Order: sequence, then structure tokens, then C-alpha cells
Amino acid sequence: MARIAVVTGGTRGIGAAISRLLRERGLTVVANYGGNDEKAQAFTKETGIAAYKWDVGDHQACLDGCAKIESEVGPIDVLVNNAGVTRDGTLHKMSFDDWNEVMRINLGGCFNMAKAAFPGMRERGWGRIINIGSINGQAGQYGQVNYAAAKSGIHGFTKALAQEGAKAGVTVNAIAPGYIDTDMVAAVPPPVLEKIVAKIPVGRLGQAEEIARGVAFLAAEDAGFITGSTLSINGGQHMY
Ligand code: CAA
Repeated sequence: MARIAVVTGGTRGIGAAISRLLRERGLTVVANYGGNDEKAQAFTKETGIAAYKWDVGDHQACLDGCAKIESEVGPIDVLVNNAGVTRDGTLHKMSFDDWNEVMRINLGGCFNMAKAAFPGMRERGWGRIINIGSINGQAGQYGQVNYAAAKSGIHGFTKALAQEGAKAGVTVNAIAPGYIDTDMVAAVPPPVLEKIVAKIPVGRLGQAEEIARGVAFLAAEDAGFITGSTLSINGGQHMY
């Protein structure tokens, strides 16, 4: 039986590349998405990968969504916590809502999804959880106290849960992408982005597929000794 993977935010950007590659590697993939029905339908039509809609920041919705997947598709073996949003602004301009929304979705989403998927993985004695952090959670970023705090939280969450999963055969790892060619990065004002790209030693933005390959590596059957680690994929921009 093929392993079953759930990828949050899995119909667009980095998440779509992860969904595609895991499927190519033989897993049964289910993509979660939060809002863009049109993109999700196009993604399913093109790839045949089922897409389930719910907000990962909503605790009950995650429990219900994962229960639905388990009854319709099967037990979740691999969870990729990829869904995330930005609400950039310097602290003096950032609203409490901008803070809360990013914490709720980016960090809260990892907790909510792990609460839904981790118990079954432990019971079955095998699981892979891969959390998508960020270079900006490692190094900080001007205009992102919310996002940097949430992503930094993901790195701590990963190391803590890795210790809890280890004896039960559940590995928990993070990937810290740098600046990747996605809609999220395209929303950075061009003059600001130009300065950022100038500081990437490899000299370009990353591609979503380059992050997906890291996820596939950590999700593999023979990756059982890798847990609690963070794989930085950032073109050399930050060496951590
Ligand atoms: N360090 C120091 N000063 C900086 C700075 C930096 N990195 N960036 C901007 N400033 C300064 C500017 O020079 C300017 O100073 P002056 O007024 O003296 O000229 C001042 O800060 C205000 O800058 P802005 O005009 O840019 O301010 P703004 O309020 O219009 O916008 C901002 C602020 C929203 C933070 C904008 O600069 C921005 O979008 N920055 C990019 C943030 C970023 O990298 N986001 C990543 C999104 S992608 C992602 O998050 C994915 C991932 O995981 C990597």
C-alpha cells in the first residue's frame, strides 16, 4: 500500500511542487488549501491530486478535515505543514490582527495538524512530519516580526515534537527555505527584492521544486535516522 501524504497549502507555490513530487515518488497525495478555489480546482484537474479545503488556523477544522481524509483515503503517514501567509510591515505599522493572523495560520496550523495526524502515526509506529520554516525564522527579517516569530516557533516546535516521536518511529524535521520564486516572494516590492537577491550567493531565487526535493528526502522510507533537523535550502544566503 502506498503511503498517504497530506500537504497543507498544497495546491499552489511550494506546496504544489511538494504535492507533485511526492506523488511522483509513489505516495498517495492529498492537498489541503485555504481559500483559492479556482487554483485548487485547476490543480486537481491537471494533476488528479484531490484537494480538501479548510483553514489550518482553525483547530476543529483540522481535526475534521484529517478525519475526513482518513475515512475517504486512509491513514495519514506523511504530514507536510507548508501552509503560510505573510502580513509584512514594520512593528510600528503592524496591527494586532496582522500579528495574530500570521501566528494563527503559520504556527498554529502546525500544532492543529500535528494534533490531528500525530496520534495515528504513533499508534502505527511510522510517520513523517515535515514543517516548512523559513530563513526569516532563522535570521529575522526587517518588516516581519510576526512571520519571523512564527517561523522561528516552527523550528522549536519541530525539535520538541521530534523528541516525542522518536521512539514511536515518527520523524519530525523542518526545511528552512530562502527566497523562492513564488507569488509570496513576488509580492515583495521590486526594489526591496532586488536588494535581497543581490545578497544570495547563488545569485538567483530558488525554485519550488528545489524545496520539494528536500521534503521528498525527509519523507523517504530510509530517512528514519534523520529527526529534529532543519535543512536550509537558501542559495547560501544564511549559513546556520
Ligand atoms: N534594513 C534596514 N532598513 C531597512 C530595511 C532593512 N532590511 N528595509 C527597509 N529599510 C528602511 C528603508 O530604507 C526606509 O528607510 P528610510 O525611510 O530612512 O528611507 C524604511 O526602512 C522604510 O522602508 P520602506 O519604505 O520599505 O517601508 P514600508 O513601510 O513601505 O515597507 C516593508 C516596509 C513592508 C517591510 C517592506 O520593506 C517590505 O516588504 N520588505 C520585505 C520584507 C520581506 O522580505 N518579506 C519576505 C516575504 S517572502 C517570505 O517571507 C518567504 C520566506 O520565507 C523567505
